Amino acid sequence: MSRPQQQYDPASSPFHPDNRDHYPRWRDQKLRDYPESLGDLLVEINDPRTLRDCEHEALLQRCRKANMALYASNTGDDPDPAIPLSLGQRFGLHTLNHNWLADETGLTSLTVRDTGVRQNYIPYTNRAINWHTDGYYNALDRQIGALNLHVVQQAARGGENTLMDHEIAYILLREQNPDYIRALMAPGVMTIPARIDEGGTLARPEVAGPVFSILPSGDLHMRYTIRVNNVMWTDDPLSREALDCLQKILNGDAPWIFHGRLESGMGLVSNNVLHDRAAFTDDETHKRHYYRARYFDRLAGTAMSDTSAQ
Ligand SMILES: [Fe+2]
Repeated sequence: MSRPQQQYDPASSPFHPDNRDHYPRWRDQKLRDYPESLGDLLVEINDPRTLRDCEHEALLQRCRKANMALYASNTGDDPDPAIPLSLGQRFGLHTLNHNWLADETGLTSLTVRDTGVRQNYIPYTNRAINWHTDGYYNALDRQIGALNLHVVQQAARGGENTLMDHEIAYILLREQNPDYIRALMAPGVMTIPARIDEGGTLARPEVAGPVFSILPSGDLHMRYTIRVNNVMWTDDPLSREALDCLQKILNGDAPWIFHGRLESGMGLVSNNVLHDRAAFTDDETHKRHYYRARYFDRLAGTAMSDTSAQ
């Protein structure tokens, strides 16, 4: 059972740019013994549908530290949707974002599609997807708290993922210049234009909002894409500098950026961390299939109030 989340006064959150007291303590604790490789984030488990307490605890501990954990299970290429769904429930995730291209279960099957509407969208091709957090185009009251991925089958070649804890990106930006955080917390710094479908009707209204925001729990949310098409940024020098700095961080070789290839039965549990995907090539027997689960909740047990009590 997760306990009720403590409500934070945003100003007391370490993520508030004017908080000069709590922030350095939180930062130092965050960086102490931080994972150094993908292997540090990985937990070997039996079956995500029947996660043992010790397996759950090992995953949770990594998520508390780094907002993410990886698992390697023994389910292989079993496509049972209950695998990711059960795991999500075990982490207190209940409100799935049934986005319009989702399966009936609410999961999304990310595979290459050659027909239908999905073929028009990059996630359903074999193309690379650059750095982003999920759901950045969602309405501001429907942002994605947790993102889990489960690999049913990996491609024949390619398809690696790169991952970065958004709280680390925040630290690197704030250490460079706290005004970068202020610029990226501005309410309209990033606008996603409306999506108009082929018939000319409005499929999704324009969404303007911040990159970084502080949740009622005091935790940090990040809404971001590095792509240049279909995103509009506030055009002022400070915002441009902040975005340049963030791009350099993501395209650089900071030790907190993790890169690797997940295989069948493996998966990611996360508080919607920054991630990308490399291009890939399928063959007859290796057709990449990821289940993606997006939740409005964050992982239970990883709130500010949980981690600061450690
Ligand atoms: Fe994504």
